[in-house]
Amino acid sequence: MDIVEIIRKKRDGGVLTRDEIAFWISGTVSGSVPDYQVSALLMALFFRGMSDEETSVLTDVMAHSGSMFTPGDLGGYTVDKHSTGGVGDKTTLVLIPLLAAAGLKVGKLSGRALGHTGGTIDKLESIPGFRADLSRDRFLDLVRRTGLALADHTTDMVPADRILYELRDVTATVDSLPLIVASIMSKKIAGGAQAIVIDVKTGAGAFLPKLEDSRRLARALVSIGERLGRKMAAVITDMSQPLGRRVGNAIEVREAIDTLKGAGPEDLATLCCELGAELLVFAGKAPTRPAAVAELRRLLKDGSALAKFRELIKNQGGKAEVLDRPDLLPAAAKRSDVLAGEAGTIRRLDALLVGRGANALGAGRTKKEDAIDPAVGVELVRKIGERVEKNGVLAILHVNDETHVAEARHLVESAYEIDPSEAPCAPPPLIVERILGAA
Ligand code: URA
Repeated sequence: MDIVEIIRKKRDGGVLTRDEIAFWISGTVSGSVPDYQVSALLMALFFRGMSDEETSVLTDVMAHSGSMFTPGDLGGYTVDKHSTGGVGDKTTLVLIPLLAAAGLKVGKLSGRALGHTGGTIDKLESIPGFRADLSRDRFLDLVRRTGLALADHTTDMVPADRILYELRDVTATVDSLPLIVASIMSKKIAGGAQAIVIDVKTGAGAFLPKLEDSRRLARALVSIGERLGRKMAAVITDMSQPLGRRVGNAIEVREAIDTLKGAGPEDLATLCCELGAELLVFAGKAPTRPAAVAELRRLLKDGSALAKFRELIKNQGGKAEVLDRPDLLPAAAKRSDVLAGEAGTIRRLDALLVGRGANALGAGRTKKEDAIDPAVGVELVRKIGERVEKNGVLAILHVNDETHVAEARHLVESAYEIDPSEAPCAPPPLIVERILGAA
């Protein structure tokens, strides 16, 4: 097979066969197809697109490009969730122990923060001692015995995605729907889950801010996952404002702990139950979605999910005492209030600007190599629809290094829009739309 012919075929709008896609991907991973030819093909794909069948084959071939888990490896009914990334999105921290408490098997592979959105591993690593670099055997053993483990994506899983993503990043080919779908779903397929729920964020802080783009992505993810034999659901959820009230790492863990104790923000608890309900129904653990939501609410309320979270932290080397004493989590040296310039109702709270504000304080990274500060972040005292007085506190910056505080303050201040009239303003609906598969 000749890679030049494959590039030419796609350049001219042809449809690639499984053999051609497999030849391209294996050559990419082995290095026998050089970067310039991979890049040329990516650009051809960007302009010409891919059929559903091609996208499904690409996803499957990428998933098989390294080591994988199959559902049988993990024992029981295996489930997974994926978020397209948000600000203050600590859903995984609450949802995975909740699902394990409901009797499902959750072997979660997660990533680190990049850009304005946070990463689950960074958040969990703010718990002293917590380790996400589990060996394959340890990961499998934990999932089989306890129903729950969370690990960093290892370098031997889906190597094709790492190589392609790096090239897409420097060739302006990231925002191609089939390439995004294959990238996301290949990692999910390799993770071995039977049922997958995708939280597709929409609004200012989302990877794809426009609803029609979020919808297109959600539909494509569900369709490709189903073609590859997974039960799939996607929920499009609001990311115009951040989720919950805390954006950072340790401060988000604190909010997740509060939620597992039944005292967290309502939007976070609702989102976890709504996402989890799709999986409980797929697994046959609940007859209907409302019954599943009620069951998950019960497991949050009676401490079962909190007990699973404790077990997860202990099993992975973390100091589980943080659940009883959150003051053991890293805390910033200083707090600095962001005040309202006028009285009124919060009309807008731009998630992207808050995320960038938290990053300016050191909570995130712009390059993979950057170190993060686990203690810093932004606490949102007011959110959309709430009233504030003149000079009332809108948000609190948790600060260690003063260098970029002025920038962070400016970003957080400009995230807020206050309506001085008495007119009420409803918060945006959290659950925007559900995209259910055929199954
Ligand atoms: N997330 C991924 O994992 N891959 C993409 O291509 C885009 C978002």
